[in-house]
Formats: sequence, C-alpha cells, structure tokens
Amino acid sequence: MFPILTERPSDSPRIDALVAACFGPDRHQKTVYRFREDVAPIPELSFVVRNGREVEGSIRFWPVVIGAQEIPAVLLGPLCISPERQGQGIGRALMRHSLYAATRLGHRICVLVGDKAYYEPFGFHNAPAAGLELPGWVDPERFQVMELMPGAMRGVSGMVAKSPFGSAGRQARRKAA
Ligand SMILES: CC(C)(COP(=O)(O)OP(=O)(O)OC[C@H]1O[C@@H](n2cnc3c(N)ncnc32)[C@H](O)[C@@H]1OP(=O)(O)O)[C@@H](O)C(=O)NCCC(=O)NCCS
Repeated sequence: MFPILTERPSDSPRIDALVAACFGPDRHQKTVYRFREDVAPIPELSFVVRNGREVEGSIRFWPVVIGAQEIPAVLLGPLCISPERQGQGIGRALMRHSLYAATRLGHRICVLVGDKAYYEPFGFHNAPAAGLELPGWVDPERFQVMELMPGAMRGVSGMVAKSPFGSAGRQARRKAA
C-alpha cells in the first residue's frame, strides 16, 4: 500500500538525491534538461510516494510548447523509484495517477523521453513518427507522445521547446492570448 501524495517543498532534496541515484551524474547533459533549466516542475503534477520522510518514488512534469504555434504540452519526467522499491507497482501507480491528474487539469498532450517498453502500455507512441522533434540528439525510439485528449495532436507538429510561460503555462497562455 503506498499513498500517492502531492510533493512538498521539503521533499526536494530527497527527490534530487533519488533522481541522481537513478539517472547518474550525466543526466544534465540530456536534451530534455534544457526544458527544465530555470523552470519549476508543475506543482499540481508533482507526486511522491513517501516512507516516513524518505521519498521512495517521484514523478514530475514540466511545461513545454510544440511548434511555431507554441501548442502547450507537458513533458513527463523524471519518474524514478528507489532501487529497493522497484518492481512493486509504484511506478505504474504514479504514472496512472499523474496522467489522470494531467487530463483532469486540461492538459492535452504529454511527451517524454524514456524506455519505450515501459511507457508504451500507458498509451505512449513514437513522437518522431507523429511529426515531433527535439532540439538535440535523442534515440528516436525513446521519444514518445500521448494525447491526453483524443485528437489533441491533430495538426500539431514541429519542435518541442521550453515553455515561455513557466510552470503555470496554460493559465499564463490564456491570459497572454
Ligand atoms: C522504470 C521505473 C520507473 C519503473 O518503476 P517501478 O515501480 O519499478 O515499476 P512497476 O513496479 O510499476 O512496474 C514493473 C513492470 O515494469 C517493467 N519495467 C520496469 N522497468 C522497465 C524498463 N526500464 N523498461 C521496460 N519495462 C520495465 C517490469 O519488468 C515490470 O513488468 P511486469 O509488471 O510485467 O512484471 C523504475 O524501475 C525506476 O525508477 N528505474 C530507474 C530509472 C528509470 O529507468 N526511469 C524511467 C525509465 S526511462
């Protein structure tokens, strides 16, 4: 049994340590980290599984935009589970909970870079084949997309980019529009 909780500011150092343990010191070189520089994760889509004060699992999402029209989307990740709790369903539970939350909040498109075999069962499919690009090299098999709203990808293609609107992306965009 592992309740899924909204991340608190005090979780941050433990999440950083967990992410470092899962993805190693070279993680900041990855293309997706460009979208996270100086941008906060979306607070209402940042969830943890805790054991006491320890964080055993974490998922975060970042705002991004797609193409010249700057269509808002969310970038899933990192998702990481502490090594001693892997394979017990925590990752799957965090994925389902957060994708449901994202949909309820009105987000329409989710992209990620990760293991195809893990993410495909949740509904992700190949992003390059859907016309999406990233501003740096990435294994095309690992770059994936999912419509959170049916039809959300219709007419959407192009480069994924850092959101100019910060982590309150959609709301800020509405105000700016
Ligand atoms: C990948 C990760 C998030 C999965 O979370 P988890 O809680 O361990 O996984 P779950 O218990 O929800 O699901 C386990 C299932 O996923 C499969 N799985 C786990 N990691 C996988 C991977 N990298 N690729 C494909 N399948 C994977 C397991 O084989 C298992 O399958 P089964 O249910 O058919 O037996 C977690 O293991 C982790 O943090 N790993 C290190 C960092 C990482 O690789 N992150 C994301 C992938 S890019």
